[in-house]
Amino acid sequence: AATTRYEAENAPATCDGTIDTNHAGFSGSGFCNTSNTTGAAVEFTVSASTAESATLQLAFANGGSGSRSADVLVNGARVQSTSFATTGSWSAWTRQTWTVQLREGSNTVRVAATNASGLPNVDYLDV
Ligand code: GCU
Repeated sequence: AATTRYEAENAPATCDGTIDTNHAGFSGSGFCNTSNTTGAAVEFTVSASTAESATLQLAFANGGSGSRSADVLVNGARVQSTSFATTGSWSAWTRQTWTVQLREGSNTVRVAATNASGLPNVDYLDV
């Protein structure tokens, strides 16, 4: 199936922080810079035409000095713990891929920091 891109700056996506534009290379009109705090999250609402296993690709940049850990929750249930390695600069964007189970219709995909630095900057989710 075709890939759908969900931009972090476009509602109904939510960002526990600010939508920024100060680091080049992002898609769309900005990216989500979450607060530097545990629990800070970005949440996407993604639609599936049928219950299916889906490949998700989250675009991020981590110009910080260390990796940043997070949980991935689908429809409120944690399905994965992950870590975002440094990308060397805030304008060096890369993607991380997960395979998750979606239900038919609307689904929430939430990425929530499990470390005090918050998330890396998040650009979009491709499904
Ligand atoms: C810098 C950077 C931000 C980033 C932040 C962070 O302030 O400019 O884009 O979000 O560091 O450490 O999370």
